Amino acid sequence: MFILGRKFKTSIIGSAFLLSSLAFTACGASETTTKVADAVKTVAVSTTASATYANGKKVIDGGSTYPVKDGKTSLYHVNTQEQKGFKYGRTPTANEIKAWDIDVMPDGTGLPEGEGSVEDGDEIYEAKCTSCHGDFGSGGGGYPSLSKGNAEEGFATLKNQRTTPDSDGPVRVFGSYWPKASTLWWYIKTGMPHNAPLSLSNDDVYALCAYILSINEMEIDGQELDDEYVLNREKFMKIVMPNKDGFVPNIDGPKGPDNVREFLADTKNYGNGTRCMKDCTDKVNVVRIKVEMKDFLPPMSVKRDLPKVDASAAGAPQPGKKAYESTCAVCHATDAMGAPEVGNKAKWEKVMKQGIDVVYGHAINGFNGMPAKGGKASLSDDEVKQIVDYMVAQ
Ligand code: HEC
Ligand code: HEC
Repeated sequence: MFILGRKFKTSIIGSAFLLSSLAFTACGASETTTKVADAVKTVAVSTTASATYANGKKVIDGGSTYPVKDGKTSLYHVNTQEQKGFKYGRTPTANEIKAWDIDVMPDGTGLPEGEGSVEDGDEIYEAKCTSCHGDFGSGGGGYPSLSKGNAEEGFATLKNQRTTPDSDGPVRVFGSYWPKASTLWWYIKTGMPHNAPLSLSNDDVYALCAYILSINEMEIDGQELDDEYVLNREKFMKIVMPNKDGFVPNIDGPKGPDNVREFLADTKNYGNGTRCMKDCTDKVNVVRIKVEMKDFLPPMSVKRDLPKVDASAAGAPQPGKKAYESTCAVCHATDAMGAPEVGNKAKWEKVMKQGIDVVYGHAINGFNGMPAKGGKASLSDDEVKQIVDYMVAQ
């Protein structure tokens, strides 16, 4: 699944659903409701390369199988505990599901009737999209381009790009990269304009799609999209995206899992032909690491030591400060208690004439009005010395 980008939500959902529904048909888990006692039995997990599913197929590399019941297995750990009596929530109403289920699938599910011309799309685009996506979908300033990068027939595909990263892959924008046009309709309808999603009518979205296809110089059924071209549902279903085969393995459809197996079985797809799941950087020519990373701006630092602390600098850590404030400041912040106030140079010079060891001794053991350790017996001698150092330094 590493090849999937977030732009392909439609097909990801489609395939994930497919994979999981296959897994569930294979293991029959949906019919399984067992007593708790059965469910708590230790679950043995198989992750070896030779593991097979109940239907005899080999487990996809790195995958796991979990026993469910009666020799059946599943890709996931299936909780066979009887699910009864949870009184949370309620069944959503048909309308609630309808409001939530708004994506458009490659097979046309969710794509409503409607129509719009390239010309209308141009107008709406200028009013609602140019501000971010630029004239004619030029993009820039962090906003994705909606036009450049058309992947022609024979053009390098994503496959070339992954296994030989130096080759020119398609620029990852709509025209060159997206494998399904349904994503465009759905993306615009639900997400654009960015500042007012869901504000466009279905006809507006058809018009915008027509316009975007035209600036990408794409054809539908061999027909160019001139200004008068009117796109509707029927024509939309005929759009063939240039990069439709650029994704390997093709995980869509019932053959998806087999395609994945085949792809992963071909060692060429691992860089230099060595399969590896552990300590791989030594053994395998890891493609992304091989691409030399340089020209970082600003240059990346490889130093690992922390910057040295200048003790004399303002902001340098002051051990003792905190304890001084919590234990000693009550008496030492002013001279009200007869204690030499911190910051009064003359008084502390006089104190220090006795020598630091005597001063430490007074602070630790008490001295006239000065209680031993400031009255906080839990302080160690060293901690008190540290506080004294702090007080003296002030
Ligand atoms: C306020 C700025 C803004 C406006 C206005 C706007 N967009 Fe976008 N559009 C974005 C941003 C930002 C992204 C990228 C979103 C992301 O990657 O999550 C985006 C992404 C897209 C994409 C996906 C492109 C890609 O390659 O990922 C399409 C298609 C799109 N916009 C179409 C439109 C259309 C059509 C309109 C006018 C109805 C429009 N946008 C108006 C900001 C805007
Ligand atoms: C209850 C009030 C009080 C608290 C709390 C207190 N002190 Fe004192 N401290 C005094 C008084 C009063 C003196 C002056 C004693 C004298 O010179 O007769 C003094 C004097 C000192 C001196 C100077 C001793 C000398 O030799 O002249 C030091 C050093 C000192 N305190 C450290 C501390 C430290 C460290 C703390 C906190 C852990 C602390 N004090 C908490 C009241 C306090």
